[in-house]
Amino acid sequence: MSAKKLTLSNFYEMKSQGKKITWITAYDYPIASLSQQAGIDMILVGDSLGMVVYGYEGTVGVTMDECIIHCKAVRRGAPDVFVVGDMPFGSYHASDADAVNNAVRFVKEAGMDAIKLEGGIRVASKISAIADAGIVVIGHVGLTPQSSAALGGFKAQGRTAESAEAVIADSIAVEKAGARMLLVEAIPPELAGAIRNIVKIPVLGIGAGADIDGQVMICGDILGYFEAFTPKFVKKYANVAKIIVDALKEYIDDVQQSKFPAPEHTYSIMPEEVQKFEKMLKKYIK
Ligand code: KIV
Repeated sequence: MSAKKLTLSNFYEMKSQGKKITWITAYDYPIASLSQQAGIDMILVGDSLGMVVYGYEGTVGVTMDECIIHCKAVRRGAPDVFVVGDMPFGSYHASDADAVNNAVRFVKEAGMDAIKLEGGIRVASKISAIADAGIVVIGHVGLTPQSSAALGGFKAQGRTAESAEAVIADSIAVEKAGARMLLVEAIPPELAGAIRNIVKIPVLGIGAGADIDGQVMICGDILGYFEAFTPKFVKKYANVAKIIVDALKEYIDDVQQSKFPAPEHTYSIMPEEVQKFEKMLKKYIK
């Protein structure tokens, strides 16, 4: 039996008790189901699915419809986990109304518990509008991959006093706008720790050190099956790519040498039908 699904108030309690919140991305039924079995606290159906699942170069090409399909699969795989839908590039930029309509799709069509969107001061009105619609919003500041071109690439943020102050200002704006949790990405641990003390909402991080309320990682990175690139902040807990390649090589070899399928992998003719079956075959095979 799986544990009771955690809610926002559990995450606030965990923060106050100094208990770390665990968060992982998943894009499909099997990884969602295995994450639930492992006892993860939260799942993010990240727009990183563009790279991990579709082989895109970045996240900007990901569409709302792609996100919804993957959110539905994850919801089915992990019914007892708090699942967050990631709003893709272009789904909340044009207007507050657009932001609300697309956030509603995540909740209504895909059963998400919350949505995440990237940006600080510049998206504050979108966060407020979505939060006013009764949807839990998670902010995302620091390195925001959807705007990596404007940031000069996939670069760590907050490494100078000026840049660090901008990340703090974004974090404060996100909380003020009504976000209930904050994700900080690729910033120095000292800055992440300071933000954790400045805002009251739980602060989770990726590439932001351990002095915060929890961590999120991309499943393909820590399980070792996404090989296109590996950021510095990733710790590999498994080498699933090697397991898959080795297994497939063995399968190819077995098929080529007629070792597979073996009798135990086949179906037998019903015993009472054997005679009739052989007679029938004689019509075709002389
Ligand atoms: O899309 C994603 O996977 C993310 C990560 C930074 C956690 O937003």
